[in-house]
Amino acid sequence: MLSGTAYFALIFVLSACQGAAAWWQPSSNTTWQIVLSHVLTPPTNISVLALDGDLFDNASNGSWPTIKAAGYRTICYFSAGSYEDWRPDAQDFLPADLGEPLDGWPGEKWLNTNSLNVRKIMQARLDLAVKQGCDAVDPDNIDAYDNDGGGLNLTTADAVSYVRFLAIEAHNRDLAMGLKNGGSIVGDVLNVTDFEVNEQCVQYDECETFQPFVDAGKPVFGIEYTKADDDTPTRESSFVNDICANPSRRGFSTLIKHMNLDEWVVACDDAENATSDMSIPASTSAAPTKASSMFGVGVSGIVVAGAVTALQNCWSSTVE
Ligand SMILES: *[C@@H]1O[C@H](CO)[C@@H](O)[C@H](O)[C@H]1NC(C)=O
Ligand SMILES: *[C@@H]1O[C@H](CO)[C@@H](O)[C@H](O)[C@H]1NC(C)=O
Ligand SMILES: *[C@@H]1O[C@H](CO)[C@@H](O)[C@H](O)[C@H]1NC(C)=O
Ligand SMILES: *[C@@H]1O[C@H](CO)[C@@H](O)[C@H](O)[C@H]1NC(C)=O
Ligand SMILES: *[C@@H]1O[C@H](CO)[C@@H](O)[C@H](O)[C@H]1NC(C)=O
Ligand SMILES: *[C@@H]1O[C@H](CO)[C@@H](O)[C@H](O)[C@H]1NC(C)=O
Ligand SMILES: *[C@@H]1O[C@H](CO)[C@@H](O)[C@H](O)[C@H]1NC(C)=O
Repeated sequence: MLSGTAYFALIFVLSACQGAAAWWQPSSNTTWQIVLSHVLTPPTNISVLALDGDLFDNASNGSWPTIKAAGYRTICYFSAGSYEDWRPDAQDFLPADLGEPLDGWPGEKWLNTNSLNVRKIMQARLDLAVKQGCDAVDPDNIDAYDNDGGGLNLTTADAVSYVRFLAIEAHNRDLAMGLKNGGSIVGDVLNVTDFEVNEQCVQYDECETFQPFVDAGKPVFGIEYTKADDDTPTRESSFVNDICANPSRRGFSTLIKHMNLDEWVVACDDAENATSDMSIPASTSAAPTKASSMFGVGVSGIVVAGAVTALQNCWSSTVE
């Protein structure tokens, strides 16, 4: 625990620093894991800093707070640009909010992201993210412009407007926010997003598009998929090695995953390695954050780390 004096000293220094971002600002090379196929449980003996999982899953069972308390940074995924008929708030969308079905994703339709009703629903989802203890959100499907406008004539300008809206709303709630894919709008939203979550840029030879994030010190959380969901190539296999050795992903946090985003993972970089063994209970071996191992004080170290990060942001924004 912090001593009372240290605590008040931190409060004093922090409150003296106006304008520093209060939300998590991850740096490039941040290690991570993503699981969307089912309820996320903390991976245990692999060491990653951040976990990306479904905002809604297990909401009433407290898995997000559990993960947070184990010391992970929490990135909460939701679809911001598509209606999903199974979500608890699905009935809040109006018929006029809905566009064409998403090709290959049953139960999903593109959303009119200019709709005030849609935006109101997304604000409520961001409120849920705060409640769940999310450090960041990963809003998906902002790129209807690449999918026939979603049947709603949505353009890149609409996407820029929507991502900026979501970023302001997220940051107002002290949530970091990523751009999901969205290669065409990187230059327009780089300054309001905290990271990129990308699928298949190595496969489609598009990674250069996302290098501006790394140049800005922000992570690119890259995902490349195996050919089939039961393939389990090793880190040493040529399939994985060719991806990882691709120079265009310089500075990216690239994972090899199954398309269904189950627990199986091979990371290009060493902090975490190929394993499908993530079944060990959470609390015993939480991944140490850089800060908690530095301070050697577990979860209370995270509080200190948060303050230190805020101070660092404060220094840099003061200096700039
Ligand atoms: C995780 O722990 C289990 C049990 O201790 C072990 O068998 C496995 O090899 C470990 N995995 C990694 C990636 O360290
Ligand atoms: C919460 O857990 C119960 C019992 O394990 C399960 O029936 C229920 O579906 C879970 N709810 C969510 C939102 O995951
Ligand atoms: C929800 O999360 C808790 C805590 O991780 C877990 O014990 C429980 O089994 C989960 N419920 C479901 C339905 O997966
Ligand atoms: C999209 O644009 C086309 C051509 O301008 C127009 O006919 C159609 O009504 C528009 N659709 C919507 C949903 O606005
Ligand atoms: C981000 O950059 C755009 C120009 O690309 C600018 O219009 C906007 O004001 C900037 N936003 C912030 C928050 O700096
Ligand atoms: C990220 O990792 C690469 C490769 O190890 C290294 O060259 C680069 O300096 C790192 N970037 C940061 C911001 O730590
Ligand atoms: C990850 O895998 C590489 C290559 O097999 C190995 O050299 C390294 O020690 C592993 N790192 C960890 C943290 O297990």
